[in-house]
Amino acid sequence: MQVLGIETSCDETGIAIYDSEVGLVAHNLHSQAKLHEEYGGVVPELASRDHIRRVLPLITQTVTEAKTDLKSLDAIAYTAGPGLMGSLLVGSAIGRSLAYSLSVPAIGVHHMEAHLLAPMLEENVPDYPFLALLVSGGHTMIVNVTEASKYEILGESVDDAAGEAFDKTAKLLGLPYPGGPVLSALAEKGDSKRFLFPRPMTNKPGLNFSFSGLKTFAMNTIKAESSDEQTRADIARAFVDAVVDTFVIKCRRAIKETGLKRLIVAGGVSANTQLRAGLIELMHEFNGKAYFPRAEFCTDNGAMIAYAGYLRIKSGQTESLNFKAKARWPLESL
Ligand code: KG4
Ligand code: ZN
Repeated sequence: MQVLGIETSCDETGIAIYDSEVGLVAHNLHSQAKLHEEYGGVVPELASRDHIRRVLPLITQTVTEAKTDLKSLDAIAYTAGPGLMGSLLVGSAIGRSLAYSLSVPAIGVHHMEAHLLAPMLEENVPDYPFLALLVSGGHTMIVNVTEASKYEILGESVDDAAGEAFDKTAKLLGLPYPGGPVLSALAEKGDSKRFLFPRPMTNKPGLNFSFSGLKTFAMNTIKAESSDEQTRADIARAFVDAVVDTFVIKCRRAIKETGLKRLIVAGGVSANTQLRAGLIELMHEFNGKAYFPRAEFCTDNGAMIAYAGYLRIKSGQTESLNFKAKARWPLESL
């Protein structure tokens, strides 16, 4: 079975073809980072318009690279939410229309479920049940994945998502959008002993997160200190150390509560090398294992949508022609 995946939930147009016999056969991505850079964040209207421009040429390119044709596709998977409504509607409308014209099923995929499944495109995949730490630009959660498609949220952010905190702190440090990767590169040059940032909500029981205070702490530190390059790197380092430590503390707590020794880490922030190192070490502590997507599939991409759609089609899921995109869509409602 060949499934075409279409991702347009935010500022990346991602297209891929997943083949149930051979795995991922082609994938392409167009990032709108340059388009939004001058505004310091995603401009929803510009994002939708750019998806309209990119999606069809990218589908043609991907189908060609996969050495297949549209008529050989068995299903179309598209991101149905959560995300920016205008952007979601582009992928949904094109995905649904294409499926209708080819007389094949279309399936609306949950963006966070797709992130969570992205490590399954790699060689070593975890058996169910496992824990999943999802850290993206819009969401932060620890999920107990008891079996395929069964999600119990153990904790989530009560304010900013992890990626959002990275991006906002990066902006305060004068770094370009999207700030996450640039901030972590700067942090590599920082001294971890110079500043100590708080580890939010680690003194309270439970598995929820809060990151907005960290951003404020960073802002106050930036105001109080000189703005030389080393100081900025030291602040970046203190911020990254605090985020990583917070995730390690909460994941350790989740492992102890559930007894689960397999941890999937996915979403844009899972590309962060410091976070990966911290969580790999944590899983060693328990004789367990951490599973990550390859770097390019941590952030938004079409491959995870094609794969998540394939699993849903395989399990017999169908949807009516009037399926609607959802800007908000709780993972546990699946
Ligand atoms: O999953 P994603 O591509 O989009 C959403 O679903 O939101 O995540 C994007 C987020 C951005 O906030 C970006 O700054 C962050 O992931 N990010 C990183 C890194 N790479 C991407 N944050 C920290 N370190 C990175 N290396
Ligand atoms: Zn995402």
